[in-house]
Order: sequence, then structure tokens, then C-alpha cells
Amino acid sequence: NVTKAFGDLEIIKGITVTIEKGEFVSLLGPSGCGKTTLLRMIAGLESTTSGSIFIGERDSTGLPPEQRDIAMVFQSYALFPHLTVLENVLFPLRMRKLSARDKQVERARAALELVQLLHLADRRPRELSGGQQQRVAIARAVVSE
Ligand SMILES: Nc1ncnc2c1ncn2[C@@H]1O[C@H](COP(=O)(O)OP(=O)(O)O)[C@@H](O)[C@H]1O
Ligand SMILES: [Mg+2]
Repeated sequence: NVTKAFGDLEIIKGITVTIEKGEFVSLLGPSGCGKTTLLRMIAGLESTTSGSIFIGERDSTGLPPEQRDIAMVFQSYALFPHLTVLENVLFPLRMRKLSARDKQVERARAALELVQLLHLADRRPRELSGGQQQRVAIARAVVSE
């Protein structure tokens, strides 16, 4: 029963949803209805006004993003312009120290192979098409598994 208000404006008026492990769910609705806000609340990037968000058995409502073990592809991709494609995908592994350094590169390269961008690993985001940038953002989200 999550609600969200920005100031006086309640944009999410109480949503209840259960998503099972391994389930693939799409949120569909008109522009401005609150889809991104809901995803940001699940990721911990936006607070909830009321209600709770459970991830597995754990009440994650007040947890910071880094303690939720979750990844998100941003609508604007939010790639780091000064980092190469490979460095962008490495970033979450480095931040969270998820594996040894040489293992990290191996995992990042595997994620890039998955989105068929390994051949562009040394490019910067501005040297990619929009769709290629989107795939880098997807690789960066899935690399943490
Ligand atoms: N930080 C904010 N402050 C005030 N209003 C916001 C903020 N973020 C989003 N909104 C408003 O909340 C509503 C939902 O936005 P959003 O979740 O981005 O919609 P969408 O479903 O298109 O992803 C919109 O009316 C938007 O203008
Ligand atoms: Mg949106």
C-alpha cells in the first residue's frame, strides 16, 4: 500500500503489487503517472510517503540503495561520460567490491558480451548510438547479478 506525494500532490495513491522471484513484469501507464517514481522507490533512490516495500522477506522501506542488492537502468541511462564502456560496467563491481579485481574484469566483459558490445569496450558513451548506450546501461545493471 505504497503512496507517494511530492508536496501537496499525491501522485501514487496506494499501490500494492507482489512480484515473484524470476517473474518478468511490465508497468504500463500514461506519461507522468508514476512508473519511474515507483521504480525509484523500489531501488531506494526515492523515499515512500507511506506503505512498505519488501524485497524477499526483508522490509527494505528505509534502507539506502546500496543495501538493497538491486540494480536499475535509468531512463536517461546515466552513463559516466569520462569512463569507457568497460569502466562503466565495472563500476558497480568496484563500488561493491563484489569480486577480486581480475574477476571483476572477466564479469564485466561477460556482461558486455551478453549485450553484444564487447567490441566497443574501449569507447566512451558519446561515441555510441542511443541504443548502444542503452545496452551499456543494461550491462551495468546485470553485471552484479
Ligand atoms: N522530484 C519530483 N518533484 C515533484 N514532482 C515530481 C518529481 N518527480 C516526479 N514528479 C511528478 O510525479 C509524476 C510522476 O512522474 P514519473 O514517475 O516520472 O512518471 P512516469 O510514469 O512518466 O515515469 C509526474 O507528474 C511528475 O511531474
Ligand atoms: Mg518514466
